[in-house]
Amino acid sequence: MLASEIASQIAEHEKFGGVVPELASRNHLVYAPRLLERATRAAKIDIANVDAFAATSGPGLASSLMIGASTAKGLAIGLGKPYLAINHLEGHLLSPFFNGDFQIKPNISLIVSGGHTMSIQVVGLCDYRLIGRTVDDAAGEAFDKVAKMLGLGYPGGPEIEKHARNGDATRFNLPRSMLDSENFSFSGLKTAVRYLLPKLRGDFLADLCASFQQAIVDVLLRKTIAAAKKYDVDLITVSGGVSCNEELRRQLRDACDREGFRFKSAEPWLCTDNAAMIAFAASLRLDAGFESKVTEEIDPNLALA
Ligand code: KG4
Ligand code: ZN
Repeated sequence: MLASEIASQIAEHEKFGGVVPELASRNHLVYAPRLLERATRAAKIDIANVDAFAATSGPGLASSLMIGASTAKGLAIGLGKPYLAINHLEGHLLSPFFNGDFQIKPNISLIVSGGHTMSIQVVGLCDYRLIGRTVDDAAGEAFDKVAKMLGLGYPGGPEIEKHARNGDATRFNLPRSMLDSENFSFSGLKTAVRYLLPKLRGDFLADLCASFQQAIVDVLLRKTIAAAKKYDVDLITVSGGVSCNEELRRQLRDACDREGFRFKSAEPWLCTDNAAMIAFAASLRLDAGFESKVTEEIDPNLALA
């Protein structure tokens, strides 16, 4: 990796308690050219020497996807280089391999972000089979919504994790939903916190955060280990913003050690959204002979498997 630049908009969206689409796309227009300049300067390369241009083509907010994809397509056409449309979720899914030998081994991949929670059987590069997904809220969404109820900042995951560090995770017995299914559900957990909250008095924040976080970790851990056994793989990977969570990483790693699975996660900076994971997916695809047509449209609901 020669350079990785991120123009975070979190501070601007924070005051609205979540992402405002119109604001996001306006910022993309302003920041895309500046980021390109910053990245080429940091990498000490001339943009004309770049081998290929890639962008996220979905899933995500249409107006933001369009700006990224149009920028990459424009550069690819102007400089006569290949264009690669990359699935945002494939970026997450491959990110645990970014620091290794770049060989994508068969694995059970748990993707946990603000918009998605899925378990995927990875057979190899570009061969992904959906095992289960959330039927309502994503894990990160549950963190964000519960943090909002508790009056904590956005994004909620890091806030809840911070408070949970000093808490007793066994104090509140919160629901673990759909344990016998390969799918996930987190809205019941969120509702349980909503009903519990008005009844609580005194000092409960740390214990509630720890109990809530543990309920999510329990579900993710149990389903991921079950999938690895069922699909007979020896490697488990985890990615997406929620995989920054230290407790999730530690407990997943311990469970993998106990059950005899290998475990891989991306470095924390690669877990939340970034362009490096999209470039990484694009370079693996380019090496494998893939390219996209510049006529390929973005798709806000693009499926991975
Ligand atoms: O992958 P990501 O950056 O964006 C999406 O594609 O959605 O994930 C963002 C999500 C947010 O919901 C955020 O609260 C959550 O990841 N997150 C965390 C932590 N850091 C970020 N959740 C739990 N613990 C964390 N430390
Ligand atoms: Zn993401």
